[in-house]
Amino acid sequence: MANERQYRFRSRVIATRGVREYRQTIPSVVRPADSVLEIGCEWGTTTALLAQHTRKVIGTDISSVCLDHWT
Ligand SMILES: C[S@@+](CC[C@H](N)C(=O)[O-])C[C@H]1O[C@@H](n2cnc3c(N)ncnc32)[C@H](O)[C@@H]1O
Repeated sequence: MANERQYRFRSRVIATRGVREYRQTIPSVVRPADSVLEIGCEWGTTTALLAQHTRKVIGTDISSVCLDHWT
């Protein structure tokens, strides 16, 4: 039988006006067991910072130029 704990929403969305603010949240928000999806990773600078706090990070971007940078 389903209960409240099974379906509790545990994801957090971090959105800020600037990249600096966004990066400053990392130490207080990201934990080693977290999975992080960075939407709009551009060149991966913040993705690399996130990877210092958890091993499960995916960066994605609408720009194929940015993504091709890594292939
Ligand atoms: C300010 S840059 C991101 C900087 C990056 N997050 C960092 O911390 O270094 C914004 C990026 O968002 C991407 N972007 C814009 N709209 C998007 C969308 N709908 N889906 C994914 N990426 C998107 C742009 O291509 C651009 O690379």
